[in-house]
Amino acid sequence: MKKSINSILGMLVVMLFASSGPPSSSDSGVGIWISYSGDKMVEQRVDSLLSLMTLKEKIGQMTQFSANWSITGPVMSDDFKPYLDKGLIGSIFNATSVVGIRRLQQTAVDSTRLGIPILFGQDVIHGYKTIFPIPLAEACSWDLALMQRTAEIAALEAASDGINWTFAPMVDISRDARWGRVMEGAGEDPYLGSRVTEARVIGFQGGRGGASLGALHTLLACGKHLAAYGAAESGRDYNTAELSEHTLRNIYLPPYEAAAKAGVGTFMASFNEINGVPATADRWLMTDILRGEWGFKGFVVSDYTGVNELVPHGVAEDEQHAAELAINAGIDMDMTGATFIKYLKKSVEEGKVSEQAINNATSRILEMKFLLGLFDNPFHYLNEDRAKQNTMTPAFMEMARKAVAASVVLLKNEGAILPIPKEKAVTLTLVGPLMNDSINLNGEWSGLGDRNKSVPILKGLTEKYKESAVNLIYAEGSSIDETTPGRIAEAVTAARRADIVIAAVGESFHWSGEAAVRTDIRLPEAQRQLLQALKETGKPIVLVNLSGRPLDLSWEDEEMDAILQAWFPGTQGGHGIADVIAGDQNPSARLVMSFPRNIGQLPIYYNRKNTGRPVDLNDETVDYKSNYLDSSITPLYPFGYGLSYTTYAISDLSLDKPSMKATGDSITVTATLQNSGEVDGEMVVQLYVRDLVGSTTRPVKELKGFQKVPLKAGESKDVTFELRSEELAFHGIDMKKKTEPGNFKLWVAQSSDDNENETTFTVE
Ligand code: BGC
Repeated sequence: MKKSINSILGMLVVMLFASSGPPSSSDSGVGIWISYSGDKMVEQRVDSLLSLMTLKEKIGQMTQFSANWSITGPVMSDDFKPYLDKGLIGSIFNATSVVGIRRLQQTAVDSTRLGIPILFGQDVIHGYKTIFPIPLAEACSWDLALMQRTAEIAALEAASDGINWTFAPMVDISRDARWGRVMEGAGEDPYLGSRVTEARVIGFQGGRGGASLGALHTLLACGKHLAAYGAAESGRDYNTAELSEHTLRNIYLPPYEAAAKAGVGTFMASFNEINGVPATADRWLMTDILRGEWGFKGFVVSDYTGVNELVPHGVAEDEQHAAELAINAGIDMDMTGATFIKYLKKSVEEGKVSEQAINNATSRILEMKFLLGLFDNPFHYLNEDRAKQNTMTPAFMEMARKAVAASVVLLKNEGAILPIPKEKAVTLTLVGPLMNDSINLNGEWSGLGDRNKSVPILKGLTEKYKESAVNLIYAEGSSIDETTPGRIAEAVTAARRADIVIAAVGESFHWSGEAAVRTDIRLPEAQRQLLQALKETGKPIVLVNLSGRPLDLSWEDEEMDAILQAWFPGTQGGHGIADVIAGDQNPSARLVMSFPRNIGQLPIYYNRKNTGRPVDLNDETVDYKSNYLDSSITPLYPFGYGLSYTTYAISDLSLDKPSMKATGDSITVTATLQNSGEVDGEMVVQLYVRDLVGSTTRPVKELKGFQKVPLKAGESKDVTFELRSEELAFHGIDMKKKTEPGNFKLWVAQSSDDNENETTFTVE
């Protein structure tokens, strides 16, 4: 490859300055560049390069375009090519393959004045080509090691294909199943959400902090979307989030803070406004909290045209004003909107943006490029052999299959109809629109996953039961939202020949994800008609539900014999689900989002407040209480709930002492777990507390610990939790985070509504 003279000169200057650059400006607080790595050598290299750059070139680094090779938002009219040719692009996303990316990198490095390499981003959300279950599903495994491992595999696969930055993990708390993006996160709980966030950041970046950035099996990660994107009113995407600082800090912010503390290198701003200020223009959030309080030192990218959108939000007069608000709030890079590159030079000249602000943003971005090794070798992620070697390997497939079995939640199992072992001489009639489907299995945000390569459930079951006593019949009966009396009749005829019917039903994959909001979260009418007709045959029915969100399964809960919530399970979906149906894997997953009884209950979550007129859950009809006239206030299936092929019991809950100090102290909680059934399994044991009196009202329950414990049939084990006083801290009446003295209840439980093992303690 032929390098341009300019590029060689540029590189030489960078190398020269590597050891003798001007002193770093990283010496004071918020507002001045403080390096992410703290590495003096890197700081010097950044400063040296910065000193060579024109204002326009610096702003170019703060500019990101989509190559539009895959589409993840409205296609913009600006062609990125002219910017690329002039060295005015810092990052490109949605460009794919080693060959394609090399072509773009070559232009940046060989044909521009300073030859600064480009950062290549992609939404590697739940896999790159090997697709794992959607993040919401995986979170139901409560298995942090597994989530870290799948993020590691996704990083290796993507980094081997030329990507160096993923826009993940999505860590938005979700309490409203109408919102389509609940599929991307870890559900409704801030404590679990924070632990999952850490596991995913560590998985993508190859460890805590940035030490492994630049290693070719890792990606730069991005905590998104800061903040409270999941609090969109009525679940409508991009909608207003109206919430108190109390709720923002105690419920929504903890997972983002966990990402910062785990060393995530970048954050993405959210589209929504919070309390009247769009996040993209919110200096309090993007600078005071993110950098000031949490000490974040990486860079912040806007969301897709998030800067431009400050105009329709009604806080910016025009796009120049929008760009000024964004950079002054703390946004370092503009995703696709081209506002920075078009207007910020003018804004600096007009004195509306300081050059220091531009220098800070550019330095943060350049530093990441140095840490990723792009200045040492801009092409080091680009190697066809590595791409071939690290794509959809047997080991990745095995992990994907394991992740499915770990993520499916058994919601109902009347008469222990499941599992159906290979030795059992039965006829199964397999029906439903998602039974012989591979297109939907990957769900949304599934990177470059080839939908045709995903294993349909029918295939999984056929392979599982071949040469077994189990006989299979298949009749589809309905597509996702259409059927005919003839198709239903065909399925009914097939069902009459069965001992058990297995119906794979659910949503189309693009009914969840971005801009995919539903106001009716029941199964579509066509599928309900099919199920109704099958029910009339009197045959037992096992429902396998695939969806990107909790659905309203109230009717199904009444009428079906078993329900397996299989989410969108990814590449190995069919095999993983067959493993569970046949009993080769015992389901151990537990819900991380409450399933409502009806849409009117939304938003619904277990860690609600008590109110001044709490309803008695044993008699919800009492008047003038916080209840409904036509529904229970409880969910159909609560947070933490999930069945197994065995049963578990918890007993002998004890504390090592009855009280602890408010700071630096802890209580050791011990309980005995027993697998009281006849099958080996894994139990997710959960620790909840309730702070009985606070300076502000406190949730009726809060998760403060969990463990996933393997137990052989009949086996008992003692588990211990160390409950630290700091875990009980919250932002109270003065908005300062502290642990308040007082009395607490504590439960070691199998789900958020399990009150059997309860005790109390005091914080002095
Ligand atoms: C989404 C982000 C995503 C970005 C790039 C946006 O529409 O909100 O989550 O990372 O597109 O694809």
